[in-house]
Amino acid sequence: MHTATEERLIRPAKNILGSIRLPGDKSISHRYGMLAAFASGVSRFRNFSTGADCASTLACMTQLGASVRRLEDGTVEITGVGGTVRPPSEPLDCGNSGSTMRMLSGLLAAQPGSFTLVGDASLSRRPMERIRKPLEAMGATLTLTDGHAPLTVVGGALHPVDFTTPIPSAQVKTCILLAGLQTAGTTTVREAIRTRDHSELALRAFGAQIERNLDNGLSSVAITGPQPLSAIEATVPGDISSAAFFLAAAALFPGSQLILDGLGLNPTRATLLDVLTAFGAQIAVLHLEEQNAELVGTVQITTPAQGLGSTEISGSLAAQLIDELPVLAAIAPYSRGGIRIRDARELRVKESDRIALTVANLRAMGAEVTEHEDGMDVPGGQSLHGATIDAGGDHRIAMAFSVAALRASGETLIRGAEAAAISFPEFFEMLDFLAER
Ligand code: S3P
Repeated sequence: MHTATEERLIRPAKNILGSIRLPGDKSISHRYGMLAAFASGVSRFRNFSTGADCASTLACMTQLGASVRRLEDGTVEITGVGGTVRPPSEPLDCGNSGSTMRMLSGLLAAQPGSFTLVGDASLSRRPMERIRKPLEAMGATLTLTDGHAPLTVVGGALHPVDFTTPIPSAQVKTCILLAGLQTAGTTTVREAIRTRDHSELALRAFGAQIERNLDNGLSSVAITGPQPLSAIEATVPGDISSAAFFLAAAALFPGSQLILDGLGLNPTRATLLDVLTAFGAQIAVLHLEEQNAELVGTVQITTPAQGLGSTEISGSLAAQLIDELPVLAAIAPYSRGGIRIRDARELRVKESDRIALTVANLRAMGAEVTEHEDGMDVPGGQSLHGATIDAGGDHRIAMAFSVAALRASGETLIRGAEAAAISFPEFFEMLDFLAER
């Protein structure tokens, strides 16, 4: 059980107004941090994620021999191990971070030695069988505890695989690619639904060659190892999954005006903007540029007088929007037509069972909602009241219901608000800055 340590009281707002820049993307920061620590040379990153999850990645990489410094201006400087890690004396603590555990397991599977990875109570419940299969097919040994962490990777020289992922997962794809990077021959990962491609772009930025193809409806990534990585300097784009909370908040109030600068707009992540547009918000991309193959831009959202309409998220959309579904569900009661979410079973094995917790918290605020095994139906045209929300130790639930609270009648108490710091420590401060009361 997670012990909540912090409560936040959220008062209703009139509007969302302002212009901000988001802290660095969590997914990209994990990858830049891990690859820089593994590469040769000194890398430097501006706007590196401030979240506890990315700090877990950096702490693990330090234990493995890399050195990490935070410079006075916030730049994160990483000196890499040059392709060979130091066997750690203690288990590697991945904290709450599934990305750290799954991606690092792949990196370590090709390193000689035995590595034990542990996590907090939430991470220790999450499925790890999905990385055992491909890594064992490559010749590593992965010992799980009842399908979960703690896990031990016994690594060494591997052989390449051609693996089709049964569940769309960028973490699993990355796990295999990081093992393939160090393995003689060509390792291929195929996926039916294309997941976020930050690893592919980051590997290229660090000097690796990878090949991407689309055949028979499957998108594939192939890497021929072994290949060395060399240090880079980069600015991490603002996190669009963190921006999602403010975009959703703005969408609650006709007349809101929000501008987000330096925002990561990688097409495998920016589906949110299309869905918000389909839901009835007006979104304009005011500026767009490329940085280390990642698209970065300025986005403006305005909400028309009639507010939001209705929308459905299913099929590949559900996989691409998986982290944004709680907040989209949380604002849906205030729309005219509501939301229908399906094919999102993966939500049940995230930091919490996000379907159960979203449904329970919507009901606590007085909403009508129907739970499905793989999603939910949230009708529109509802009025919600303030309530006590249980964040369940899940950062995205804490933030999603802080947004729902902005249009409720009365105040809402978020229990376990400290969870927001897993991805977005600045969340409550920025929300206060943007919300007009
Ligand atoms: C992530 C991928 C997604 C996402 C998670 C971050 C990543 O998980 O939910 O927050 O950085 O690769 P899966 O790849 O397991 O779906």
